[in-house]
Amino acid sequence: MGGEGTTTQGGAVPTPEELERLAAAAESAIAAVADRAGWESLRVEWAGARQGRLRDLQALIRLAPDKRAFGQAFNQLKSRVEAALARRDEELADGERAARLAAAREDVTLPGRRPATGSLHPVTHVARQIEEIFRGLGYSVAEGPEVEDDRTNFALLNFPDDHPARDAQDTLMLADGRLLRTHTSPVQIRTMLARQPPIRVICPGRVFRNDNDLRHSPMFHQVEGLCVAEGITVGDLKGTLLAFVQRLFAADTRIRLRPSFFPFTEPSCEVDISCQLCGGSGCPTCSLTGWMEILGAGMVDPRVLANCGIDPDRYSGFAFGLGLDRVAMNNWGIPNIRSLFESDERLLRQVRG
Ligand code: DAH
Repeated sequence: MGGEGTTTQGGAVPTPEELERLAAAAESAIAAVADRAGWESLRVEWAGARQGRLRDLQALIRLAPDKRAFGQAFNQLKSRVEAALARRDEELADGERAARLAAAREDVTLPGRRPATGSLHPVTHVARQIEEIFRGLGYSVAEGPEVEDDRTNFALLNFPDDHPARDAQDTLMLADGRLLRTHTSPVQIRTMLARQPPIRVICPGRVFRNDNDLRHSPMFHQVEGLCVAEGITVGDLKGTLLAFVQRLFAADTRIRLRPSFFPFTEPSCEVDISCQLCGGSGCPTCSLTGWMEILGAGMVDPRVLANCGIDPDRYSGFAFGLGLDRVAMNNWGIPNIRSLFESDERLLRQVRG
């Protein structure tokens, strides 16, 4: 045999037996590799695309004395190395997946985390109840601005020039002469200035007064009601209020109207309901009277109708106003009005449901 079979530029041409041994050695090296990095360096060593031992060996075939035997042995080697790499790759991947799962293990016996759910504020709750009741009586909801002028908050409502409510003592004035509305009654005015009867609206909203103690907050809530049409009487007022309180409070609630005074109604009254605690027999909550005062009302003063461009000879109406905070405090037994506005979650949790 000439030198051709044993020496090449690249080194000796291995015999088929040597290729066989090489395959066995490669298999056990690949099987023994401990991690991904080790596997990768063996893969590059053997099967690298540019230079790898398989590629280099394959190139030697043209120098082999028995090309057929070399080719067969080389193909064996190649498929054994590739199979060993694939097998170890899969085993490593299994281990990696198991490690990932173990790291992310959840304790399924732990109690679930409840998402925090909100609840309606007691005042919002009462406002919505009242809106629902009056929608059922054919009323719609109107709103107005919280910053008003003297004309809409007082003058057109027939407040005399020297009325104490117009004083900065009682009303929160802005530097430009406007004011924070002291009641929801200016929304009556805005409604009547905007359209002609028949009118049936309720107007819930925030109001402001220079007042601050256990029962009074500088900001509180009212609902105004207004009904103007031909032939409206005190009977309509009384019937409407009775239907209203019997839906908002107990179904057997009674009312009584006591004469009173408001500049924008004539006649005017305070409306009491039978005490919701004792039913009218007298208890500490109603100061032993059997009655609880809940709203102010009256027949819209003809001058107020005229101020708004509504003919008082043709139309009449009634109006009423009540404090929402008082109703909420009553319903949930909240003694201090400020508890309503401190945003303490414990209060909201107590009124939930
Ligand atoms: N505006 C009154 C207040 O703030 C409440 C009120 C009383 C409104 C009688 C009315 C009414 O519409 O007729 O005290």
